[in-house]
Amino acid sequence: MRELFLTGATGRLGRTVQKELADEWSIHPCSLSGGEDLTSVEPVDAVPEHIDFVLNCAAVSSRSGCIKNPVTAFKLNTLWPRKLAAFCSETNRRFVHMSTDLVYAGGIPPYTERSPAVPGSFYGWTKLLGDIAVQKRNPNACIVRTSILVGDAGAKMTTFSEDILSGRATHFHVDCFRNHTDINALARFLSICLYSSRAGLILAATPYAMSRAAYAYSLLKRDINLIPAPNNIPHDLTLRPSEIIPTH
Ligand SMILES: NC(=O)c1ccc[n+]([C@@H]2O[C@H](COP(=O)([O-])OP(=O)(O)OC[C@H]3O[C@@H](n4cnc5c(N)ncnc54)[C@H](OP(=O)(O)O)[C@@H]3O)[C@@H](O)[C@H]2O)c1
Repeated sequence: MRELFLTGATGRLGRTVQKELADEWSIHPCSLSGGEDLTSVEPVDAVPEHIDFVLNCAAVSSRSGCIKNPVTAFKLNTLWPRKLAAFCSETNRRFVHMSTDLVYAGGIPPYTERSPAVPGSFYGWTKLLGDIAVQKRNPNACIVRTSILVGDAGAKMTTFSEDILSGRATHFHVDCFRNHTDINALARFLSICLYSSRAGLILAATPYAMSRAAYAYSLLKRDINLIPAPNNIPHDLTLRPSEIIPTH
């Protein structure tokens, strides 16, 4: 069985990767709560010597988290992937890195791999700078850019569908469009990326965008509270993904 070093292993995507890929991969999990602070460690000290595959899911993954802890966010979202990408390139390890649709500002959809990225948030900037550094330091690396993740992750932070079904989310934007992407199917796609030699940016998401309100309605099937999205969040992040992640 191939061995995988997985950062962000306790997060939404990391947990799902552990669950979905357990039969195919022997996974070495890494997380902050597991005792590894990636903002103050070098890849050579973090990645076990015998492991040839690395998947980077560690992130300060929310706009509010990045504003609260900007230095940590810059270190984890920008500097860590830059260092990890260079290390994987120098040591011939396969590297797959996670990106987000929030690198776009939401003004000129649909977005493809060729669309210019100009983020509208500090979170988006930390992620975009990380993506650019990964591409530059490790041209063989694969950068998987996706949209808002939905499905049962069971992590400390919740997915949008978990928020809807638990009643935590009560008001839904009518004018904010994303490609709500199934987290389990995305995890399985990441396994394919790890095995393949594909390089560069890949947009991987469900093929169509919906408003957050339409998505919530599709789950709850009852009247919901509709609100306009505030101006400081991107309104239309519709992706035209080259890799279709199926809905379950
Ligand atoms: N969630 C989405 O809807 C979404 C959408 C598009 C793209 N993405 C991208 O997908 C990736 C995974 O996101 P996610 O939603 O799974 O994130 P998440 O649920 O917030 O998980 C973040 C992970 O990073 C770890 N971490 C945080 N600070 C750390 C540090 N200083 N040192 C080491 N590890 C640290 C956390 O560990 P602890 O749990 O121990 O704190 C946790 O395992 C990110 O690159 C994100 O940008 C996510």
